[in-house]
Amino acid sequence: MEAAGNDLLLRALLREPTPRRPVWLMRQAGRYLPEYREARARAGSFMALCTNPQLACEVTLQPIERYPLDAAILFSDILTIPHAMRLGLEFEAGEGPRFAHPVRTAADIARLPLPDPGTDLRYVIDAVALIRRELHGRVPLIGFAGSPWTVATYMVEGGGSKLFPAIKRMIYAAPRELHRLLELLARATILYLNAQIGAGAQAVMLFDTWGGALTPAHYEEFSLPYMAQILDGLTRHADGRVVPRIVFTKGGGAWLDKLLAIGCDAAGVDWTTDLADARARVGDRLALQGNLDPAALHAPPEVLDAEVRRVLESFGRGPGHVFNLGHGITPDVDPQSVARLIEAVRRYRLD
Ligand code: CP3
Repeated sequence: MEAAGNDLLLRALLREPTPRRPVWLMRQAGRYLPEYREARARAGSFMALCTNPQLACEVTLQPIERYPLDAAILFSDILTIPHAMRLGLEFEAGEGPRFAHPVRTAADIARLPLPDPGTDLRYVIDAVALIRRELHGRVPLIGFAGSPWTVATYMVEGGGSKLFPAIKRMIYAAPRELHRLLELLARATILYLNAQIGAGAQAVMLFDTWGGALTPAHYEEFSLPYMAQILDGLTRHADGRVVPRIVFTKGGGAWLDKLLAIGCDAAGVDWTTDLADARARVGDRLALQGNLDPAALHAPPEVLDAEVRRVLESFGRGPGHVFNLGHGITPDVDPQSVARLIEAVRRYRLD
């Protein structure tokens, strides 16, 4: 057992030495856990869970009670900001998010309000404060938001998309309008994340889930500068410690060098990039977080162990690695596989 006050995550994100690699998992609180499905049924819906600080706190802590994880991540969603902009967000069972009022025209964009986290997103900020209290310092709490580009894809398409036809059309036919939307989202996200930090978030992560759908030039024009703007506006210290920032551009493995100049401490890496190669490119300038293929959680136990080892060894020796998946846990995963994965990371000593 480790002493109370496990801060391995915060140290690894700043590339400070740790006795072992910290591990947490994207979507560690979610549908693969029976206790999550029970809490969601009790709440009535996913958004009812998110908007009730007590329930959001309960669900955040579920994976922490079940597994020896090294971090908690706020239970919420990247779409809380457009929800607060009154776009009529709904999660239909099995369908993913839908907006009743997608944003398509200059007039739609001009009408959007700048949400005040102290009122419009109060439920998130209250959840952060409550979770921090209930964690009793066991592990650090990660706050998060979506990147402006990724959040904008949902607002413009009206929901999830594979090819992003509407927002890609905006890139080519109405780039100035799109920039106005991204600028507003960046300003909203600075206020939102600073409120999370003020309430107790000890690290923050930007989810740029759809950054990899852009061309390299469009990534530099429509995603990267807005993430840079956010990082530039964030509170750097809380409780006398640096608040590390993680940027995860899914599908962005070829562009890791572009993250060196935007003020993040760590880059999230998906499973399509080799960690040794990523590390060779960023050197000791960024920590890396990732990158086990989430599908490896369906492998037989010994194969899962070997895949975990492969990820740990591809990073190699020395500080600056946070073990994670390359994307979120899927709902069909057996909770016992998650236990096995965490155990395999904790057992492993290379440094
Ligand atoms: O990681 C965690 O445990 C924290 C909670 C978290 C959720 N969403 C809960 C959630 C986080 C960090 C997110 C981020 C998020 N939300 C992203 C970026 C990360 C990623 O996965 O790429 C995106 C793109 C969204 C938008 C979103 N929310 C989609 C597309 C969906 C539907 C897809 C799905 O998995 O059902 C959601 C819903 C959602 N967000 C669920 C959870 C646990 C499932 C809701 C349910 O209970 O049915």
